[in-house]
Amino acid sequence: MAQYGSFQDTVTLSNGVKMPQFGFGTVFIREPMIRWAIQNGLRNIDTATDYANDETIGEEEVGMAIKNCGLPREDVFVTTKVWNSSHGYEETLKAFEVSRKALQLDYIDLYLIHWPCPLYDKYIDTWKALEKLYKEGLVRAIGVSNFMPEWIERIKNECEILPMVNQMECHLFYQQRDVLEYCRANGIQMEAYSPMAHGKINDSFLVQSIAKKYGKTCSQIAIRFLYQEKICFIPRSTKESRILEYMDSFDFCLEEEDMQILRSLSTAKGRIGEDPYVFNELKNLKEQIAEREANKK
Ligand SMILES: NC(=O)c1ccc[n+]([C@@H]2O[C@H](COP(=O)([O-])OP(=O)(O)OC[C@H]3O[C@@H](n4cnc5c(N)ncnc54)[C@H](OP(=O)(O)O)[C@@H]3O)[C@@H](O)[C@H]2O)c1
Repeated sequence: MAQYGSFQDTVTLSNGVKMPQFGFGTVFIREPMIRWAIQNGLRNIDTATDYANDETIGEEEVGMAIKNCGLPREDVFVTTKVWNSSHGYEETLKAFEVSRKALQLDYIDLYLIHWPCPLYDKYIDTWKALEKLYKEGLVRAIGVSNFMPEWIERIKNECEILPMVNQMECHLFYQQRDVLEYCRANGIQMEAYSPMAHGKINDSFLVQSIAKKYGKTCSQIAIRFLYQEKICFIPRSTKESRILEYMDSFDFCLEEEDMQILRSLSTAKGRIGEDPYVFNELKNLKEQIAEREANKK
């Protein structure tokens, strides 16, 4: 069977660091599944300070998986993020140490500002802390998440280093092409979160008909589209079968006319996650869940 790329392909960031294009998102995922993903070939693990389960902390689960997977540390690319409540220079440096301890790692591959929180307007100081960590060699690359071009422009004007990555909601129905074009023009790697739109990818008649043409599933069309657009992607699943299905997206190539059709599926209404202009949540995920549970009672 002909192969068109591999699930272990990497992209090269603006500073020369190689980042695996296909990653694994770990919200609510426990150590055995994370370890399974690494041992089955995924080498890019995405976590964050606010990813928590009922009993455990997401970064700790990732740290244990890396420790237990049997691979050298340098074979796994680890991303974590500074949460909203830690914006600010000193606060970010402190938060980084907490993350590093939870992950049991000497260095982090990619450190991101999770959300810009424009209402607080502290992301410039936060970014300066990321620059310090980068210069000290504690992180191999730095970037942002949920940043619109206007906020990156401020970093460009007021700081020294341009983000190397922008992690955004990005899937067939919400491709953020304006952000993508801006990132491409500025040498910033786009990374797609919620790449499966939480499974909604399967509901589209157009995606179904393209999937039928190639003898693949809708999920595989969604993965392949991002791969061919040279966007990194970090699907999440509690199920091994789904990850194996996503990995089986490298024996076909979408023709340009189908890429064009898929590009046209994106609309302003396609967003499923939070709007970065208004998302200023300070509570971490564990606190948000506890609050939701308390409100149900
Ligand atoms: N930077 C940010 O602000 C931000 C925000 C959100 C997420 N993220 C990162 O991105 C990762 C992925 O995001 P995501 O979880 O939204 O991604 P996703 O891969 O689009 O959605 C995953 C969810 O969809 C479900 N799903 C997938 N295919 C399905 C199907 N065919 N039918 C029914 N359910 C299906 C999965 O359930 P199963 O477990 O049953 O497979 C899982 O709960 C996260 O883990 C996190 O690391 C970052």
